[in-house]
Amino acid sequence: MSNANSTTRSLACRLCGRDTLRPFLDLGDMPIANAFLTDSQLHHPEYKFRLQAGFCEHCLMVQLIETVDPGKLFHDQYAYFSSISRVMDQHFERLAARIGDTLLYDDKLPVFEIGSNDGILLQKLDRFAPPAIGIEPSANVAAVAREKGLDVVGEFFTSELAANLVEERGHAQVVVGGNVLCHIPDLNGLARALATLLEAEGVFIFEDPYLLDILSNLAYDQIYDEHVYYFSVTSLSRLFARHGLRVFHVEPISVHGGSMRVFGCRANAVRPTEPSVQRQLAREAQAGLGELEAYEHFARRVAESRRSLVELLQTLRADGKRLVGYAASSKGTVILNYCGIGPDLLEYVCDNTPTKQGLYTPGTHIPIVPTDTFRADYPDYAFLLAWNHLREIMSKETAFANGGGRFITHAPTAHIV
Ligand code: SAH
Ligand code: TMP
Ligand code: ZN
Repeated sequence: MSNANSTTRSLACRLCGRDTLRPFLDLGDMPIANAFLTDSQLHHPEYKFRLQAGFCEHCLMVQLIETVDPGKLFHDQYAYFSSISRVMDQHFERLAARIGDTLLYDDKLPVFEIGSNDGILLQKLDRFAPPAIGIEPSANVAAVAREKGLDVVGEFFTSELAANLVEERGHAQVVVGGNVLCHIPDLNGLARALATLLEAEGVFIFEDPYLLDILSNLAYDQIYDEHVYYFSVTSLSRLFARHGLRVFHVEPISVHGGSMRVFGCRANAVRPTEPSVQRQLAREAQAGLGELEAYEHFARRVAESRRSLVELLQTLRADGKRLVGYAASSKGTVILNYCGIGPDLLEYVCDNTPTKQGLYTPGTHIPIVPTDTFRADYPDYAFLLAWNHLREIMSKETAFANGGGRFITHAPTAHIV
C-alpha cells in the first residue's frame, strides 16, 4: 500500500545520481515508525511504504530506496522528545561543555543547532555568548524549547534558510546537529547550506548512528523512515569534499547503540586534519564497507536474527509465560513489523512518554501503557524494544529483575539478558 504521492522510490543514488544503487535488505511493508495510533485510527488502513536499504557502489553511501516526505514525519505531533533520556541529557551536557571550551572563538558570531527538538542540547549551549539558535521544524517539540526561553527557528534547514540566516544573523562559528543529518533526504542541499552558513574558520559537528556499528551489532532496527542515510566516515567525507568542506576529526561515541561524531570545516580552513580520520577510513576499508558483500552478509544475518527472536517469544508464550514489550520506540516498530510480533505475543508495550500512552503500536496494534502499569503487576519477560537504552532501563527496573523478571533483547540474536 505504498502511497506514490508522499514517498519517493529511487534506484538511482540520492547523492551522486548514478545508477549504482544496489538494494541489499528488504524489511517489507512498514508503517511510519512513530505513527502511533489512536483507538479510532485502528480501524482505518495505515500508511505504509516499502522499507529497503541499498548501497551505492559509486559514492559508497548506504541509504533508503524509498523515502517518506519529511513533512509527513516532522510536524506538530512529532512523537520523540529528546529530553526523555537521562543518558542523552548527560551526553549533551558533555558536548556543550566541549563546544564551549574548545570550539567557540568569538562572542558575537552565531551558533546554530539543527534539529534542536525540545532544547535538550540548546539549553546547555544557551549559557555561552552568544546564545545558540535552534532550527526545528516539528512545531510541538520546538514549542517546548521556546517555553524554556530558547530561540528557535521553526523551519527545515535548507540552503535557502541558510542564506536567510546569514543575512539576518551572520555567519556561524559553530553548527551542531545530533541525530538529524541522517534525517535529511537532500544531503547535497544540506552540504550547500553548511557551506553558505559557515564562517571561514567555523566548525560543524554532527553525530548520527554509525554504519559499522549497525552492521556489527546487527542493529537493523536503526533502519526506518526517518533515517534516510547510514553513514560511514568514508561516505560522509566524500560528500563534504564535493561541497568544499572537510572532515577534520571523528570520534566514535556509544549513544544510540553506536554513533559517530564528525567534526568538519571549510576545505581551506587553517585547522589540520587529525589522524583520527585516516584511522577510521582504514578501519572501514578493512571491514569491507566499500564492497556490496559486507551488506549482503548483514542481510543474511538479519533474517537469522528474526528467526531466533520469533522462536524464543513463541516458545515462552507456549509455556504460558506473560510477555510484554518495554519502550514504544521507533526501532520497536521496525522489529515488531518485520518479525510479525503482535498482541498475541506481547500483552502491551510500556513507555514513559505521556503522549504515546493510550495509543497503539504502528502496524502491529499493541496497546501502549504507562511504565507504572508494568510496575504494578510484573510480567515474566519484558522484550526490550530500545536496546540502546538497555543500561538506563535496567538500572531503573531492578525490582523487576529482583522479583525474577527477565529482559529479552533481539540483537545480534534473541537472548534473555
Ligand atoms: N537533536 C535531538 C533530536 C533528534 S530527532 C537529539 O539528538 O536527541 C531529529 C530532529 O530533527 C527532530 O526534532 C526533527 O523535527 C528535526 N529535523 C528533521 N529534519 C530537519 C531539518 N531538515 N532541519 C532541521 N531539523 C530537522
Ligand atoms: P527511540 O528509540 O525512538 O528514541 O525511543 C525510545 C523510547 O523509549 C521512548 O518512547 C521513551 C522510551 N523510554 C522509556 O520508556 N523508559 C526509559 O527509561 C527510556 C530511557 C526510554
Ligand atoms: Zn552514490
